[in-house]
Amino acid sequence: VVEQTLSLIKPDGVARGLVGEVIGRFERAGLKLKAMKMLHLTKQQAQKFYEVHQEKKFFDSLTDFMSSGPIVAMILEGQGAILKNRELMGDTDYQKAAPGTIRADFARDIEANIVHGSDAPDTAEKEINFFFNELERI
Ligand code: CMP
Repeated sequence: VVEQTLSLIKPDGVARGLVGEVIGRFERAGLKLKAMKMLHLTKQQAQKFYEVHQEKKFFDSLTDFMSSGPIVAMILEGQGAILKNRELMGDTDYQKAAPGTIRADFARDIEANIVHGSDAPDTAEKEINFFFNELERI
């Protein structure tokens, strides 16, 4: 089934010059870019985006990190796009991520882990709507 998912290149990925590398991996895997922008979240916006994690001990650090610099937000589309994107990213913990995944290849920190991707159809819809309005989609 053709799905859309939200992908973020986090502040570490942008700062380290990995935007082209990450997008190239998505495109080579057959995921199509349907929308894209660069933006810099405020702390409050990062708190809203990650509200499901607000009780976690890493919430304050995570939202500081996510508002520390520009990020790239994208809508990716394709067959099974949600799972495909997660497979390309690898496990949240780079030490558990499969070889050849984005996080295994580039991340060296559980928080600064280069990318974010939606984990299910309902969160994908919610996260896409958080970043993109109707006019910004194709
Ligand atoms: P992400 O997939 O964006 O979802 C939540 C984020 O919290 C995660 O990637 C990491 O950037 C960050 N994080 C920090 N510490 C942890 C942790 N111990 N477990 C999971 N996620 C963490």
